[in-house]
Amino acid sequence: MEIDLETLKPADCYKLLASLVTPRPIAWITTIDGLGRVNAAPFSFFNVFGSNPPLVAFAPGNKEPARNGKAAEAKDTARNIRENGEFVIHLVPGELAQAMVATSASLSAGEDELASVGLTTTPSLKIAPPRILEAPIAIECKEHQTIEIGSNRLVIGIGLHLYAKDGLLDENNYHVNQKDWTPIGRMGAPDWYTHTNDLFEIERPD
Ligand SMILES: Cc1cc2nc3c(=O)[nH]c(=O)nc-3n(C[C@H](O)[C@H](O)[C@H](O)COP(=O)(O)O)c2cc1C
Repeated sequence: MEIDLETLKPADCYKLLASLVTPRPIAWITTIDGLGRVNAAPFSFFNVFGSNPPLVAFAPGNKEPARNGKAAEAKDTARNIRENGEFVIHLVPGELAQAMVATSASLSAGEDELASVGLTTTPSLKIAPPRILEAPIAIECKEHQTIEIGSNRLVIGIGLHLYAKDGLLDENNYHVNQKDWTPIGRMGAPDWYTHTNDLFEIERPD
């Protein structure tokens, strides 16, 4: 089968790319709006891209496309980052999967997605948006740049601070306790996920 991505409808393109480029990590992101209200939402068009500086990127699609001379409407996460440039990325272990998906509901701006699933927040150390208390890994980030490409926004951020629940990392050498760290991955669109505890190891050549 040959598929011309240049002429394919965006909805079909999404189905293919989101289902084939898997598993993807999920960034569960908290931000705050101008009134300090916390917003949480998951994004699987996400990854890390470097360590010097610690580089992250994720891609919120627009809520509404630009139409009739009206500018496109950004998702709440993107709008909050445009306003204050700060966000926290949490990674998602299996036990938080249901809650993470529930926070993808389109509540109106200012409604608290985390409270709606019984989760709580605790202050971050370097930025104003709080982190999710129940999440074992959280990376405090500042926006470096947001690039608008079609109806996507690519938010590029720099990690400022990492929180890890006790026991997940060896604090002497920063090795991750791999058997205990198995975040879920996003699989075929729209609703498939995978656990990541089927591990194997391959040593690199010298
Ligand atoms: C696992 C998962 C991954 C998602 N990944 C993305 C993504 O990469 N980009 C995107 O625009 N929406 C993604 N969504 C949908 C958003 O989470 C959803 O639109 C959410 O309401 C956005 O919230 P906000 O308006 O509070 O930012 C994803 C949803 C789920 C459940």
